[in-house]
Amino acid sequence: IYRSTTSTTLPSFLLVGPSGAGKTALLTLFERGQHAETRTSQVPLSVEVSLPVSTKAVSSKYRSVNDPSNQAHKKFLLADTPGHGKLRHHAFDSVIKPQNLKGIIFMVDAADMSMGTSGAGNEPLHQAAEYLHDILLLLQKRSTRSKTSKAPRELPVLIAANKLDLFTALPPPLVKTALESEISNVRSSRATGLLDSGIGMNDLDIGEEKEWLGNGGDGKFEFSQMDEVNIAVSVAGGNVLGADESDVKQWWDWIAGNL
Ligand code: GTP
Ligand code: MG
Repeated sequence: IYRSTTSTTLPSFLLVGPSGAGKTALLTLFERGQHAETRTSQVPLSVEVSLPVSTKAVSSKYRSVNDPSNQAHKKFLLADTPGHGKLRHHAFDSVIKPQNLKGIIFMVDAADMSMGTSGAGNEPLHQAAEYLHDILLLLQKRSTRSKTSKAPRELPVLIAANKLDLFTALPPPLVKTALESEISNVRSSRATGLLDSGIGMNDLDIGEEKEWLGNGGDGKFEFSQMDEVNIAVSVAGGNVLGADESDVKQWWDWIAGNL
């Protein structure tokens, strides 16, 4: 199987999210069609993945099934990054590096946030929200910056609520609202300077245009506030592992819809 860490013209998707979310497990499943043991990642890893024949890329929707150019559109690169707090610069670097990036998958362990409400010491939720806030802020800056030269490129973000096989897992709509309300908290703490601005965000040299995430004023943060900067955020659940079998169909569909 072909592995590469160099840039290529293949369309690519970036896998980010907290440690233990299941990113490498998903990469392994997509690459090999079956699950394998993983250990926590320390370096980024890109693999070439083929869309399953049952899932059709949006770019080949109107082509005949016999069209040979279908083949060329079914492949993409999936770039896995380490989720550990001290290794997230790999993910931030991958967001800003020039490449054929088609979308970002932010994976969370839905069974790790099942306390639901924000505050009250739900540390995994807070960690996830902080990381997602930083990624979205980076994308927002990238987009507002490119507005001056050319039209901002669309970049969709999928929040993949993983581990739905576990009975403690929060359903995807609740993962969404829990993250939104915790991001509201992160955003206001950042604004009042109570927290550091995370790992190396200031070293990324993408200008100081806007430090406030979203356009919704200082009310509640909602993912729909990212639409204005051409970042469509959606949430879909699934599980890489499970007693019966994996369920990754919604994530395949999202990838196909953006490929
Ligand atoms: P880092 O590399 O540290 O950033 O973590 P990661 O996101 O790559 O996590 P990884 O893929 O290594 O998975 C962490 C653990 O979760 C592993 O033990 C997986 O087997 C387990 N896991 C992944 N997906 C699922 C799932 O859908 N359900 C269950 N029950 N366990 C899962
Ligand atoms: Mg990993």
